Amino acid sequence: MTGGSRLVGDVRVGGAKNSVLKLMAAALLAEGTSTITNCPDILDVPLMADVLRGLGCEVVLEGDEVRITTPAQPEYHADFAAVRQFRASVCVLGPLVARCRRAVVALPGGDAIGSRPLDMHQTGLRLLGAQSSIEHGCVVAEAEDLRGAAIRLAFPSVGATENILMAAVLAKGETTIDNAAREPEIVDLCTMLVQMGARITGAGSTTLHIVGVPSLQPATHRCIGDRIVAATWGIAAVMTRGDMVVRGVNPKHLALVLEKLRGAGAEVTPHMDGFHVVQNDRPRAVNFATLPYPGFPTDLQPMAIGLAAVADGTSMITENVFEARFRFVEEMIRLGADARTDGHHAVVRGVEELSSAPVWASDIRAGAGLVLAGLCADGVTEVHDVYHIDRGYPRFVEILSELGGSIERVGSED
Ligand code: UD1
Repeated sequence: MTGGSRLVGDVRVGGAKNSVLKLMAAALLAEGTSTITNCPDILDVPLMADVLRGLGCEVVLEGDEVRITTPAQPEYHADFAAVRQFRASVCVLGPLVARCRRAVVALPGGDAIGSRPLDMHQTGLRLLGAQSSIEHGCVVAEAEDLRGAAIRLAFPSVGATENILMAAVLAKGETTIDNAAREPEIVDLCTMLVQMGARITGAGSTTLHIVGVPSLQPATHRCIGDRIVAATWGIAAVMTRGDMVVRGVNPKHLALVLEKLRGAGAEVTPHMDGFHVVQNDRPRAVNFATLPYPGFPTDLQPMAIGLAAVADGTSMITENVFEARFRFVEEMIRLGADARTDGHHAVVRGVEELSSAPVWASDIRAGAGLVLAGLCADGVTEVHDVYHIDRGYPRFVEILSELGGSIERVGSED
């Protein structure tokens, strides 16, 4: 890509990656065919389909719809070949324990953003009456009976909340999950589960209350829009002094992010189905601290660093969720960013223009952040390993090109 173009135009985002994968896992909870619409065209969806097929489901992907037919007795073993490619597959753990009273799920490999233990998932399942251990590279959980329990999470983990929730909906009696994650994707999952017959209250608050039911029915559910993809476009508009209408997302899910863009000098107007962002001058420096929802999303931290790198002034970015998520900052420095990290803080002094270089994407969001930075650099920047970006962003390069970015996909290294 060559930097210097203003990004201008309309863009529509698809369904949320971090929701659709959990909705697909929820289909395991009921025998029969569940349908999820507004499904994004990203690599993780067919990968999740393969995990479900390995568990005995039939999965049909058609346009933006996925239909999952779950047998009366799914398999309980998600093996390494299916799950190793992406971490979200761990979300089949809760549904399998609930349906089969037994689950063996291979542990996904290490992650570029830091260690991602499953201790809170296991503690929650144990409190529901399951035994859980790590054996031969797999997390194993078994329960003769699942019984409701009072569970307090040490941290509002998204994945632990989802797994415990999906086990508790079929447990006997009442469960409370305190300090639960409040992300819109959790609310979306609760909406689908309630439609399937689950009894859940408190979705979107810090306490979820679940009354177990003996069985659930399949459902049809529309996945919410992807707030992380939408915000990526918003930040891209601000970094390139652009003018963009972003559709397909609930702007309430981005309240704090849009406030930060205003802090950078953007005019931001929310509408029913998204927002309009216009940036006329060089963006101003803004501080960001990542936190669980409704805080600033850790998944946008690389883009926030990109914005800070070209802003007027010095920004402080604090990462509170994943300990190693600043590793990619080295690549930003290669692009001329004046950035220094110390523990979970980064201090970034904005420069007028970044300087093109070959850089390597290490995960989905770091990859997107590097591409946005490349669009603000002089000369030609090459971002390698862009397959990471395809895991979470449909048509990323094509959309940037349609918005006026000078960018193309080359070679077949990926
Ligand atoms: C999900 C999202 C990811 C996002 C993250 C935080 C999906 C597929 N991924 O990941 O994009 O960045 O939420 O918003 O939805 N932790 C433990 N023990 C546990 C579980 C988590 O220590 O048992 C720690 C993690 O190491 C991390 C923090 O808790 O430091 C948050 O992780 P969590 O909220 O669980 O993230 P994920 O569900 O893995």
